[in-house]
Amino acid sequence: MNYTNAVAAALQGCVDLPIEELEGLLETPKNPSMGDLAFPCFKLAKVLRKAPAAIAAELKEKLILPAGIEKAEAVGPYLNFFIEKGQQAQTLLTKVLDAGEAYGGSNEGQGRHVVLDYSSINIAKPFGFHHLPSTAIGNALYRIYKHLGYEPVGVNHLGDWGTQFGKMIVAYKKWGTKPVEEYGIRELVDLYVRYHKEAEVHPDMDGEARAWFHRIEIGDEEAVSLWKQMKDATIREVKKTYERMGVRFDSWAGESFYEDKMAPVIDELREKGISKLDQGATIVDLSRWNMPPCIILKSDGSTIYATRDLAAACYRKDTYDFAKLLYVVAYQQDLHFRQIFKVLELMGRDWVKDCVHVNFGMVSMEGGAFHTREGKVLYLDDVLDAAVEKTYEIICTPGSRTWSSATTRS
Ligand code: ARG
Repeated sequence: MNYTNAVAAALQGCVDLPIEELEGLLETPKNPSMGDLAFPCFKLAKVLRKAPAAIAAELKEKLILPAGIEKAEAVGPYLNFFIEKGQQAQTLLTKVLDAGEAYGGSNEGQGRHVVLDYSSINIAKPFGFHHLPSTAIGNALYRIYKHLGYEPVGVNHLGDWGTQFGKMIVAYKKWGTKPVEEYGIRELVDLYVRYHKEAEVHPDMDGEARAWFHRIEIGDEEAVSLWKQMKDATIREVKKTYERMGVRFDSWAGESFYEDKMAPVIDELREKGISKLDQGATIVDLSRWNMPPCIILKSDGSTIYATRDLAAACYRKDTYDFAKLLYVVAYQQDLHFRQIFKVLELMGRDWVKDCVHVNFGMVSMEGGAFHTREGKVLYLDDVLDAAVEKTYEIICTPGSRTWSSATTRS
């Protein structure tokens, strides 16, 4: 039902204006408690030579309400209309039920790819409650795009590379009690927390950790095997949580996947004169755009998170030829993505216009944000368990709001 049209038609009975013009005048009140549609009477004031508020009051008396509109109220110069919600819900639900799964669908995407980077958890770290927004929003967008005929590609851009794996190996070597593959995420996190506690008193451990990570980088058999086992153990466990939430991914290509795909990007930046050396590091100066430089290579020659994201964006374009690339990541990374997008633009990648950072507020718990190192963690599985328990409790309590509204439905 087109409410705007119905209200405009009703107004036409009292106001001498064409229906299109009346439709154009109808607004949506900013505050929903003021109604669903508002008719401002300023324009009529001139013609009728009356105060807008008086016109609104008069119209309220004269107007015959169309079907589907519960009431009209004159508030100052506006005449506000309230849609009858029960009927609206019934009409909508009937439509939804009739259409079934197809409701709201279309083929506007026509097989075009949309790459969605969401959840993107970190290996050997907790699958924490703070990953829920990215997981849930990303998964919802995935389903919406699919429903619109696109071919979505869900990517879990795993944080599976970096010095933290050197730390994990040091901790495991010192305190490990069984094969790595038998470790669960919580045990791995305990090792990580213990490492940070000990490293405060024994700072030389950090040197050891860097050396272990270097061994992973150069492909040392033992180091790579330990790293891989930690990764596998984490993935095995998180897959269960994802399954529980009905979330899926088409690709688990994480940061390590781009190890051998960064060189061409680094070379191109150098050759095109986009990057420059600065105190031994390779950077892209972004001061013209009021941003700090984007670091490509640290002074020790190692790549960083940003280098991997540049390579990942190019890889995704080459592989999926996406119509859109969405990064569902908390707003704390706003600057990071602005830098990445600017560097891609400087590289002449005109498809960067199709890249969007879908940001949202970060979740924190009482007493501040989450800090894995300090053991300040809220596991997503525990939150899901609590949610299920709570919901079950409500369902089983006769007289609770959910129960009574479900049973009094006519
Ligand atoms: N692993 C990162 C984090 O937990 C998020 C990665 C987001 N995706 C990306 N392509 N940078 O902060």
